[in-house]
Amino acid sequence: MPLDLYDRVSRVIPPIEWATMAEDAEAILKLKRERRAVILAHNYQTPDIFHGVADIVGDSLALAREAEKADADVIVLAGVHFMAETAKLMNPSKTVLIPDAHAGCSLAESITAADVALLRAKYPGRPVVAYVNTSAEVKAASDICCTSGNAKKVVESLGVPEVIMLPDEFLAQNVAKETGVKIIAWKGHCEVHERFTPQEILQLRQTHPGVVILAHPECPPEVVEVADFSGSTAVMADYVREKKPARVALITECSMSDNIAQNAPETEFVRPCNLCPHMKLITLKNIRRALEEMQTEVTIPAELFAPARRAVERMLAVK
Ligand code: 13P
Ligand code: SF4
Repeated sequence: MPLDLYDRVSRVIPPIEWATMAEDAEAILKLKRERRAVILAHNYQTPDIFHGVADIVGDSLALAREAEKADADVIVLAGVHFMAETAKLMNPSKTVLIPDAHAGCSLAESITAADVALLRAKYPGRPVVAYVNTSAEVKAASDICCTSGNAKKVVESLGVPEVIMLPDEFLAQNVAKETGVKIIAWKGHCEVHERFTPQEILQLRQTHPGVVILAHPECPPEVVEVADFSGSTAVMADYVREKKPARVALITECSMSDNIAQNAPETEFVRPCNLCPHMKLITLKNIRRALEEMQTEVTIPAELFAPARRAVERMLAVK
């Protein structure tokens, strides 16, 4: 096992566990060179993937931006299906692979293009802002995308008093509070973040004095309200890197703390996390298989391509 590879995960993966992973990790590094492939991994991937084999890691916004710039023949998206679709939209000449095509998202699955058409009919004239956690079909039916990292800026950029924002009801409510824009929301929820409660946060403060609480904006507004700070997964990571809190709790998916803890020895992580079953479908083993068999390739139906890409491009143009 090359020491430098283990060094990247040594603070969060015990050596005995790494011994079961090293062969797949080394095979992946070799396959990447042979296939001219890059691995883009979301912040919720496990540390063996995040630190061990990924070329680029980040939140949904960073992954969309980096997919556009990727200079490789193959992009492996270690994340969920909508992220792989977004990568394909932004860099269509590349082969985009997802290691498990069943890696979905409770938000993306909560809404269809037909639902967007019904909302437009009910609330004519309001622009439709689609969270990037949607299918290409829903993006194509929308005016502009947003992520948790830029939702406020995207909504403000429209310069209107009222917008439709879908499918995350809690993100919509959190953005409405921040912007003062009236938001017509959909009733979709992230199955990971909807489970956090304000009582849980208050209890954390009692049992871990001085803990700094960072909550993802997919959490219910009552949770965000009692947190110290709210932001996308990348914004949370930046906060810990820059402010180096003595104790922190990241109110989000479990792997975030593991991934940040590797390079934050001065911070104690309190971990009241919830697992995303979709993100956890991606493993070193199926990344290796994806590169060996060049499976599963992600494609976008021709009629959806231009309108879906336009919605993502409009988002990326918001400064
Ligand atoms: P960000 O990484 O963009 O904050 O999104 C979190 C998420 O739930 C992605 O599925
Ligand atoms: Fe979807 Fe929530 Fe999982 Fe992100 S964490 S992929 S929003 S279910």
